[in-house]
Amino acid sequence: MSGHILWQDRAIAFRAGESVASALLRAGVIAFGQAPTGQARAVFCGIGQCQNCLVQVDGRLAEACLTPCRTGMHILPETGACDV
Ligand code: FES
Repeated sequence: MSGHILWQDRAIAFRAGESVASALLRAGVIAFGQAPTGQARAVFCGIGQCQNCLVQVDGRLAEACLTPCRTGMHILPETGACDV
């Protein structure tokens, strides 16, 4: 299955089995938000260990590298405003 996720209301196509991180990177999105330290959130480990790719998925924090795409998901940058 493939479809589109919404990154800040921008439709981004994904391929079957693709993670949110992979779809965003393929679309040219390399910064996923800002950590409390001020550093940009981005893919680092790619296996769910570093938490550096946190984003908001339909209002909940999730690791973009571990979250499979589903059509219609709303993805927002993680701003550090939420408690982890
Ligand atoms: S890139 Fe490390 S948890 Fe996603």
